[in-house]
Amino acid sequence: MLSLNNIEVIYNDVILVLKGMSLEVPQGKIVALLGSNGAGKSTTLKAVSGLLKPEDGEVTDGSITFEGEDIHHLDAADIVRRGIFQVMEGRRVFEHLDVEQNLLAGSYTRSDRGQIKADIEAVYTYFPRLKERRRQESGYLSGGEQQMLAIGRAMMAKPKLIMLDEPSLGLAPLLVRDIFDIITRINKEQGTTILLVEQNARLALDAADYAYIMENGRIVLAGDPQQLKDNADVREFYLGLNEVGTRKSYRDVKHYKRRKRWLS
Ligand SMILES: Nc1ncnc2c1ncn2[C@@H]1O[C@H](COP(=O)(O)OP(=O)(O)OP(=O)(O)O)[C@@H](O)[C@H]1O
Ligand SMILES: [Mg+2]
Repeated sequence: MLSLNNIEVIYNDVILVLKGMSLEVPQGKIVALLGSNGAGKSTTLKAVSGLLKPEDGEVTDGSITFEGEDIHHLDAADIVRRGIFQVMEGRRVFEHLDVEQNLLAGSYTRSDRGQIKADIEAVYTYFPRLKERRRQESGYLSGGEQQMLAIGRAMMAKPKLIMLDEPSLGLAPLLVRDIFDIITRINKEQGTTILLVEQNARLALDAADYAYIMENGRIVLAGDPQQLKDNADVREFYLGLNEVGTRKSYRDVKHYKRRKRWLS
């Protein structure tokens, strides 16, 4: 459905951040994109959604296709119209609008206005808490409620593909589980394809059908999430698991070597 082929992204005309990034998101699947801070995950999503421009970023090489068509010259609103919606890092809601106005804002590119009321109710079935607070100014919602609202607003665009940038960021563990359950339900029940950027590797690998790991602007590892969970590097760097009995100093050396191998 979505395909990135060898893309390069440069910020401010000089800083090369994506250095030949490729990935595939098949229709109907949940694909996870993992990687350490600064690897280029958010940049990858912005390259797809057309949101690099306001940050002085530019795709300088490679191609991005969605449903077989090149989209990387389209502007952000056109990309939303094609069916791609990005939920930005840090739950960006319109703080001075109430919950329902935020949801309405998500539907701005749609032409089937008659269906919108019913869709708001559908969002409330996933997030009952938002219904209780429908008239509340969004800036006063809790962090978790704002994340729900950001996802609900994405649903209102009726996208074919939702890209989520770190939906668990700053949320309590129980709430993180709830959010992941809902993401999985949206995928199964609405048939929405999901590209998920996430620091919580364990949850992301549990939810995903396929996963990519990126370092330093390109993919270094990809595969079936269950197999990745057994990979020694993934266990150590992303799941925080070490083989029992390994001496720390030795492990650190191994760690360093492996990391070098990844980055080379
Ligand atoms: N607008 C910008 N101008 C210049 N450099 C930028 C800009 N945005 C991001 N970068 C740089 O690009 C690199 C990748 O950033 P990006 O935000 O894509 O990483 P990330 O994988 O999402 O990291 P994190 O896990 O911390 O969110 C970083 O080195 C960052 O400093
Ligand atoms: Mg990021």
